[in-house]
Amino acid sequence: MDRIRIKGGNTLNGTIPISGAKNAALPLMIASLLTDDTLTLENVPHLADVEQLIRILGNHGVDYTVSGKRLSSTPASGRTIHFTARTIIDTTAPYELVSKMRASFWVIGPLLARMHKAKVSLPGGCAIGTRPVDLFIDGLRALGATMEIEAGYIIAEAKGGLVGNRYVFPKVSVGATHVMMMAASLAKGETVIENAAREPEVVDLATCLNAMGAKISGAGTPTITIQGVTALSGARHRVLPDRIETGTYAMAVAMTGGDVVLEQTSADLLTSAFNVLREAGAEVTPVPNGVRIVRNGGGIHPVDVVTDPFPGFPTDLQAQFMALMTMASGVSHITETIFENRFMHVQELARLGAKIQLSGQVARVEGVSRLAGAQVMATDLRASVSLVIAGLVAEGETTVNRVYHLDRGFERLEEKLVACGAEVERISG
Ligand code: UD1
Repeated sequence: MDRIRIKGGNTLNGTIPISGAKNAALPLMIASLLTDDTLTLENVPHLADVEQLIRILGNHGVDYTVSGKRLSSTPASGRTIHFTARTIIDTTAPYELVSKMRASFWVIGPLLARMHKAKVSLPGGCAIGTRPVDLFIDGLRALGATMEIEAGYIIAEAKGGLVGNRYVFPKVSVGATHVMMMAASLAKGETVIENAAREPEVVDLATCLNAMGAKISGAGTPTITIQGVTALSGARHRVLPDRIETGTYAMAVAMTGGDVVLEQTSADLLTSAFNVLREAGAEVTPVPNGVRIVRNGGGIHPVDVVTDPFPGFPTDLQAQFMALMTMASGVSHITETIFENRFMHVQELARLGAKIQLSGQVARVEGVSRLAGAQVMATDLRASVSLVIAGLVAEGETTVNRVYHLDRGFERLEEKLVACGAEVERISG
């Protein structure tokens, strides 16, 4: 198993290209199941989760080709991949595949919409809470599907096709919003989704579906209206920049100090997190096609944060922000409201000398003046990158074990950090 070794103490200076968003690429790839035409996605990040989903989609009959290199292409420019689901050969998503990545459960929406049936294993994924699927079941039932649970599988059927309806989500869910938009695109009549997730990735999926011929309005607001159509066509769509990767590197720079321009991204995707970073003492300045993060001289100030659905502070940046707060000049409180078990990084940060007390959903972080390198273990995707951020300032050497978690969501992490002056290396095996 690969490890990452970090020698702490260097500031970060230079530029970091931001990849396409994992959390947009995954639902966009799944949307290819909705049409027998080719969906071309540009700026697809090279990540373990993307490769895994390609395998899962292949099982349903989706062919894919990756465009060849162009003279102008750089390693940072992302891949263009063409997905074609000419014929759906299998409407079952087996446990062996779905258990490896929760988002693959989302195939239930397009399969039900196009084939009127689907048998999908209950998901696995990151160990950050129980993560039920009740909202998907209720939402798809509202569109006329029967949903039975049998031996770990959801068996969904909509004889004669899905029918539009009004559905109010009792809780905001990104995945269930994606699935409802995809399913309702091919339902008969109008669907209105209330209390929808407003994440930029939801807007990106709606934009792509509309380019495929769907009639979706209101994405990015709590009310999304979808007029069903009888068929969707192919389209070409560019995956939006990864706002979590953007925020992660911004926090790394705030932690080490230095001056870095994050390129191919936008400050508008992260307003709340950037406001928090400014309070913490970083300068955050939008620049053309990116954002510049500077912290020179001044210390890190403690800031209290509560995670919330978009436009609130993202849960996917909570661990990274906690790493930053371990070196703040005082006490901060970090409250996690989205997932009930997303504090696995706490005990690992403590191994580096962080002082954190957990009480229910609140972490009390008392800033320390130094962290010291140690062996730590990555436990999930975002937690593992928080250990890298801490390792960048810890005195001596930090080794992060089990970095396969990082590879699920961060493209060429060591390369991007090394280019800005960090001492980071991957040790294979
Ligand atoms: C997506 C993101 C993930 C992010 C999360 C919250 C992707 C691939 N993953 O995950 O990185 O951390 O949004 O921003 O885009 N819930 C239920 N019942 C359901 C579905 C969800 O109770 O049927 C709960 C979850 O347990 C959680 C909350 O709703 O407490 C939000 O989860 P959700 O927005 O669905 O997360 P994902 O879409 O899985």
